[in-house]
Amino acid sequence: MPTDLYQGMSDFYNAFIGRNRDYRAIAMELLKLFGNQQHILDVGIGTGLLVEQLLELRSELQITGIDTSKSLLAQAQASLGTQVELYCQDVCNLQLDKMFDVAYSRGGAWAFVQDGDTILLASHILELDAIEQSFERVAAHLRDGGRFIIISSNANHSKQDELDGEVSFGRTVSKHWVDGEQYLVLDYRCHRQGILTGHQKVRMRLLELEYVESMLRAAGFQNISYDSHECRIYQKESAK
Ligand SMILES: C[S@@+](CC[C@H](N)C(=O)[O-])C[C@H]1O[C@@H](n2cnc3c(N)ncnc32)[C@H](O)[C@@H]1O
Repeated sequence: MPTDLYQGMSDFYNAFIGRNRDYRAIAMELLKLFGNQQHILDVGIGTGLLVEQLLELRSELQITGIDTSKSLLAQAQASLGTQVELYCQDVCNLQLDKMFDVAYSRGGAWAFVQDGDTILLASHILELDAIEQSFERVAAHLRDGGRFIIISSNANHSKQDELDGEVSFGRTVSKHWVDGEQYLVLDYRCHRQGILTGHQKVRMRLLELEYVESMLRAAGFQNISYDSHECRIYQKESAK
């Protein structure tokens, strides 16, 4: 069973993340990129907040979601029911008996973050060979010409929210170098009447865009991004 990186915040995930993102707006932008494609893979679906919006706007989409977090997937199952297929799988070992037109990650296994003038990949997968393998597994589940969309995120900034004076949520973000490798540590805390009631620390590997794109090319993807800060788009090349 894959490790659940988000168990400690599953009780307050929707309350915190849902307040800080406009999932409706993200869904509308994403639908433009889907065009008329139907078979969609969400890599790191979490509680399904984005998929809920996608299906409200386009109910005929055939969406499959994977995630390593059993606790968040249980919430996705409760809110989405039979509208989606859900699997508790690590994308590094992805093994599904179907192919997709589009795979995307919205703050899931990976996201792009802006660090000053630099774009970095923030990856929940920490080891380089595992990241490489994750891209290969996505490619293996996309039809030729299929698209792989990695959405940008602002999760590399600290955040503090107060709700009704009783509950507060916080995310403290710090950056570390360890043996020449760069990491983000995201520390999520929920307090109720001043008492800590939920806590989760998440570590992410940071990688330079150029390096990431060389891994993506090796997995058979070419960059077809238009000039956008919102996401980067890669297309699976046809087998020669
Ligand atoms: C910040 S949450 C985002 C969830 C959701 N996409 C959203 O927008 O609310 C990151 C999600 O990615 C999942 N995840 C991290 N690494 C993963 C991996 N290797 N394979 C599949 N899911 C992964 C986590 O368990 C978590 O649910």
